[in-house]
Amino acid sequence: MLNAAEMIQANKSYTLASWVAQGTWNPIPIDRAEGVYLYDANGKRYIDWSSQLVNVNIGHSHPHVVKAIQDQVAKLCYVDPSFATEPRGRLGEMLEEITPGTLSKAFFTNGGTDAVENAMKMARMMTGRQKILTRYKSYHGATFGAMSAGGDPRRLANEPGVPWIVRLPDPYAYRNPIYRDRTQEDGDRILAEMIEDIVIAEGPETCAAILIEGYSGSSGVMQPTEVFYNRIREICDKYGMLLIVDEVMSGFGRTGEWFGIDHYPKCPPDIICVAKGITSGYIPLGATIVSSAIAAYFEEHVLHTGLTYSAHALACAAGVATLEVYHQEKLVERSRTLGKKLRAGLMDLAEKHQVIGDIRGAGLHHVIELVKDRDTREPLSPFNKPFSDPMKLAATTLKKNGLSTLVRWNMIFNTPPLIVTEEQIEEGLAILDGVLDLLDPFYEGK
Ligand SMILES: Cc1ncc(COP(=O)(O)O)c(C=O)c1O
Repeated sequence: MLNAAEMIQANKSYTLASWVAQGTWNPIPIDRAEGVYLYDANGKRYIDWSSQLVNVNIGHSHPHVVKAIQDQVAKLCYVDPSFATEPRGRLGEMLEEITPGTLSKAFFTNGGTDAVENAMKMARMMTGRQKILTRYKSYHGATFGAMSAGGDPRRLANEPGVPWIVRLPDPYAYRNPIYRDRTQEDGDRILAEMIEDIVIAEGPETCAAILIEGYSGSSGVMQPTEVFYNRIREICDKYGMLLIVDEVMSGFGRTGEWFGIDHYPKCPPDIICVAKGITSGYIPLGATIVSSAIAAYFEEHVLHTGLTYSAHALACAAGVATLEVYHQEKLVERSRTLGKKLRAGLMDLAEKHQVIGDIRGAGLHHVIELVKDRDTREPLSPFNKPFSDPMKLAATTLKKNGLSTLVRWNMIFNTPPLIVTEEQIEEGLAILDGVLDLLDPFYEGK
């Protein structure tokens, strides 16, 4: 068995890490995880305040899912996707029951990126049009198409990317100037009008779909009101475009509804993309789930796509067991209720620490944005640049004090597993409070 130092050394010497210059990668060697806690190889405990990459929704090492995986391994791990299996059929049916509108058939993928890739392909096949319209402040995955689709600066190294993506302005009420001196609803209305103008300028006959996150995620949880989503649905209908909703991060109870888009009942999607919470990360899996109209289209037309591991039996069995846990433990309702507690705790912290400029989110899906001054809203760390000293201090102290979460630019994510208890929320908030104490001296406003 490797000790902590040997683990780090082997990982650094023989493997590549995502999204970092390799020399700066300084990983914590994790040995095991249970519930909302991670334990490193030295026995130090961390509260998992982000559910890893906002995917371990049911917490770590849940015995029901562990057992289901063990049982399935012993019976059937894999057959090629032209075969039928019990876990595939059962998971498809369970997804049909919880997804909105007429969504009814799932194409299983390996994760979120290829769920998005396949959604874009299907929309292009079905409409015979090319362009996909997406938000700047969005992330949809890391292959060429999906990375171009996400407007998040992670796309920049991939540019020019694919030529058929058109980007749309963001309903970012805290910073987009359209919202200045307006209500959020009014800002959303104007933004949606601008989006219709863009569709007209692009030529609606070339536009296959609008692709949008059901609830904004890693770009910073910038979420409009229903005015925006309702208009987007209308624009899609008016111009014969499909609406693809990316629920990879916001799905499976994260925001207090089964899916982020469930907050907007007048905006049923034509396609959704899911991954992450579908298996809570126990086995990689994603899905592109289509409406009955799209499913009917592909009854007659070849679905020109495929993956060796599509509908992987072991992954589907993990998905079935994970969905059983959501139902049995009422985790969607739990996210809604405990989300209120989390939000109230963050509001209390904002009373105490002026450095918190904005709190956004729903359910157990919240971000805080840190500023130097509440009036000017100048961020505590600049957008898409290395951390400022205060933000570096925040990121390192959170870890040192036993809290593991995502910190990006001037934002700290608060997205614990949906099984988190009230006491554990208090535990996480107390660590955050201590770190914000260290940031208070950097506040420059009145
Ligand atoms: C909204 C969204 N879509 C797609 C993806 C890509 O999913 P994956 O990393 O599983 O390929 C992510 C990953 O964070 C995401 O948050």
